[in-house]
Amino acid sequence: MAPKDHTNHTVNSYDTESPTTGQAPKPVKRPRRLRSSGWVRDMVAEHKLQTTDLILPLFVMDGQNEAEAIPSLPGTSRQSIDRVVETAKQTYDAGIPAIALFPVTPPEKKDEHGSEAHNPDNLICRAIQAIKKAVPDIGIMTDVALDPYTTHGHDGILSEDNRILNDETVEILCKQALTQTQAGADIIAPSDMMDGRIAALRHTLDNENFTDTIILSYAAKYASCFYGPFRDAVASGGVLRGDKKTYQMNPANTDEALREVALDIEEGADMIMVKPGLPYLDIVRRVKDEFKTPTFAYHVSGEYAMLKAAAQNGWLDYDTALLETLLSFKRAGCDGILTYGAREAASLLSGQK
Ligand code: PBG
Repeated sequence: MAPKDHTNHTVNSYDTESPTTGQAPKPVKRPRRLRSSGWVRDMVAEHKLQTTDLILPLFVMDGQNEAEAIPSLPGTSRQSIDRVVETAKQTYDAGIPAIALFPVTPPEKKDEHGSEAHNPDNLICRAIQAIKKAVPDIGIMTDVALDPYTTHGHDGILSEDNRILNDETVEILCKQALTQTQAGADIIAPSDMMDGRIAALRHTLDNENFTDTIILSYAAKYASCFYGPFRDAVASGGVLRGDKKTYQMNPANTDEALREVALDIEEGADMIMVKPGLPYLDIVRRVKDEFKTPTFAYHVSGEYAMLKAAAQNGWLDYDTALLETLLSFKRAGCDGILTYGAREAASLLSGQK
């Protein structure tokens, strides 16, 4: 038998002092103790997903009492304004604090400059007004970008040689944001990734005395294939000329995300967003650690569609997979999450399902 080493007082996880009876030494540290039952697991849980963490994206279309299923986003639909109002009511009643609106612009209203984006009577403005009237206490977030309104599907306007014109686009975005704010939007969420737009938007809103309108910047938005089903939903994918790689970020980069976020905070963003979500949680963590600013992530259409598809095949339990996914956003440092599964998650969290 080897002599005991009494110089080593770090017992680590084994009781090296136990009599050597030939049995395996007993572990002194037993992490499983804190996992042994539900109540203690809850008591030591480091992170918690709550209904108040969620924001529900909604697609608004023309018409009356109409809803159109979106095949690549099972469980969601495009809805006419009256139906969106109903959904907003249910969403508020479920305890979800905010919704994010996206328009399905009729093709005849699209043009090269996305001018419908700043028509005060467009779908989004009418939807905001109707929702504000019926559900005054739900937060309304609106998307600032031109892609649902342009014939070429880009978030900005194009030069004759097909380059995205940054500064000219920002001018239109300012008009768009002002129109949305005048209609009653609470949170302006630019998703366009043009340079300098946060400062310009803040300036425009402040000049019109909308000093309390919140700006949630899609600060680190990547050129991702996971937006596919969203582009089906707003019918911008089919028309998209080329790709968005000259303005959305390269998925290979993380330091660049920190620079983008730093700029947007400096320019006046109140909250920032990382998008997509699950494949970019490393970015969320770095951003949160570095800036300690309210940080959101978008669990985007393709991520949601993957869960649904696996569940439809019987390969995953959807409810568990959804809650585990959303909790991982919290663990990474998110203060809130945009997800098409917000209502499902809310009912699971309230134990109603
Ligand atoms: C457009 C916009 C997109 C999404 C939100 N705003 C798509 C894109 O950039 O092409 C994607 C959201 C999702 O996939 O759920 N500015």
